[in-house]
Amino acid sequence: MCGIVGYTGPKEAYPIVITGLKRLEYRGYDSTGVALLNGGLKVYKKKGRVADLEAAVLGENLHAHTGIGHTRWATHGEPSDVNAHPHLSASGKLAMIHNGIIENYAQLKKELSNKGYVFKSETDTEVLLNFIEDIRENNQCDLEEAVRVALKRVTGAYVILLVDQDQPDTIIAARKGSPLVIGVGKGEHFLGSDASPMLEYTKEVVYVNDYELAIVKPNELILKNLGNEKLTPFVTKLDMELAAIEKGGYDHFMLKEIFEQPLTIHDCLRGRLDANAGTITMSGVANNIEHFKNAGRIIIVACGTSWHAGLVAEYIIEELCRIPVEVEYASEFRYRNPVINKGDIIFAISQSGETADTLVAIERAKEQGAIIFGIVNVVGSSIARISDGGAYTHAGPEIGVASTKAFTGQLAVLTMVALKIAKEKGRISDERYQQLLVELEAVPEKVAAILKNAPAIKAIAEKYKGATDALFLGRGYNFPIALEGALKLKEISYIHAEGYPAAEMKHGPIALVDENLPVVFVATKDAYHEKIVSNIQEIKARKGQVIAIITEEDDLIPALANEVFYVPPADEIIAPMLSCIPLQLLSYYMGVARGVDVDKPRNLAKSVTVE
Ligand code: G6P
Repeated sequence: MCGIVGYTGPKEAYPIVITGLKRLEYRGYDSTGVALLNGGLKVYKKKGRVADLEAAVLGENLHAHTGIGHTRWATHGEPSDVNAHPHLSASGKLAMIHNGIIENYAQLKKELSNKGYVFKSETDTEVLLNFIEDIRENNQCDLEEAVRVALKRVTGAYVILLVDQDQPDTIIAARKGSPLVIGVGKGEHFLGSDASPMLEYTKEVVYVNDYELAIVKPNELILKNLGNEKLTPFVTKLDMELAAIEKGGYDHFMLKEIFEQPLTIHDCLRGRLDANAGTITMSGVANNIEHFKNAGRIIIVACGTSWHAGLVAEYIIEELCRIPVEVEYASEFRYRNPVINKGDIIFAISQSGETADTLVAIERAKEQGAIIFGIVNVVGSSIARISDGGAYTHAGPEIGVASTKAFTGQLAVLTMVALKIAKEKGRISDERYQQLLVELEAVPEKVAAILKNAPAIKAIAEKYKGATDALFLGRGYNFPIALEGALKLKEISYIHAEGYPAAEMKHGPIALVDENLPVVFVATKDAYHEKIVSNIQEIKARKGQVIAIITEEDDLIPALANEVFYVPPADEIIAPMLSCIPLQLLSYYMGVARGVDVDKPRNLAKSVTVE
């Protein structure tokens, strides 16, 4: 949550910072601000999107070679001009931006108020900034030392960028729990919550670790720990092109990302799955194969859409590998006292690799001796780095707030992992293994076929766009897909939606059914098909509007449903990767039809780095 950008070097800072903020808007978009060092310290900030700030500063002298910028997802204090970052210290000499939460800010605020400090905003950030300034003045130390002392007193998570009007070419940065990337250019440095703001300038980046502090000048990058020991920055080469973070002719990133899925799933399988040779090559699994073979249990921790991928994996792993699986919301897992046995493996599933709850959940489990296997999309992210092993989903940058291509990437990785373990454990017949490899290899092509029929889903979306509520039902492997369909619809269209196991709906949700309620059945052909047909009858008997996602050869459901959308036949283990696609399209088209900014729906953020 919250995007941060910084630049120091010979170029004009403002355009770099503003362009960077636009790329980071997926992280939060309720207010925007920049601080520029140009002889003095100038701060411009505004409630609203980056474009609103741009409009507000037209005509201003924005010339500066050092600047920082922030796009906010509010935690402390409502979105407003005054709560927007950067914040100025009491003296007006320091400006700071912050991503995260200072948990003990109330205590610090009290201490500072007793000393006479008056706060303009309701933010924890302004408290930390004045705390730093107070230490600098009282200890008569330099800013860097004051930051170190302050951060040792702070609990919570942060990335901060701090500038001082008396050091016009320097940005001080520090991180704990929220992401920070520093781009190394020739005589210039870039800072960002991810690498997107610096892509066109440099491919050389340093991922800053927790409890590290960076002093960044055009020609110098000094990295230290909070104990003031110098560290050697580890420079990594980025494997990402600018085109990957642009819309490429689509109206929205979400639509682009939905349509990219034949390619992204193919990229995920490439180099790993070889159906001809009958092999799956995954070094993250191979390196830990004895652990996997002997695992007493797999515990999956994740949030949001990634949690739904975990639920599908539970069905697949238990079926193929006969290893018990538990799927946990990371936010619950981290605060309860879970039993973790020797030999348990924790799967952390995360698109961003930065979700605070997932990150802390696996830190806790690691402390208890669990092995962590990360299934992550963003290369070099915190979860990827803390994991003992893992597999990237290789879906490329996902920018639309609602996760789509990362989800199918997660399903593809999890299916390969399950197949590999099942094979190594001798739990799967050669015939079934080979059949599933062939089916998995065919997924990109089948997804492409589904996407060709997008206009049919668009027509359904147009017809039902006035709905106030919707129910999504599925059984077996398609139950988590029903949950995911409901989540997508509510986040993108603001229609209240609930996902349920199709049979369980008789224990409550059926009371909601009337002629106005769209009920989406995820009813591809599988072992439970006849059962779900009965559930459709039950909804029809109560006049519900049935929208059914079905397999091409289905000859029962078309006669019952109000609307049907066909997907190609597939094994039930593979089917979720297909049945989720029409639901992504349904939510997208409904959101657009209802006038929602689908890439940036209200109150949401793509990367939830606060708990
Ligand atoms: C946010 C995003 C979701 C995502 C969830 C978990 O809520 O809007 O799309 O599924 O976080 O994020 P992660 O990056 O850990 O997968």
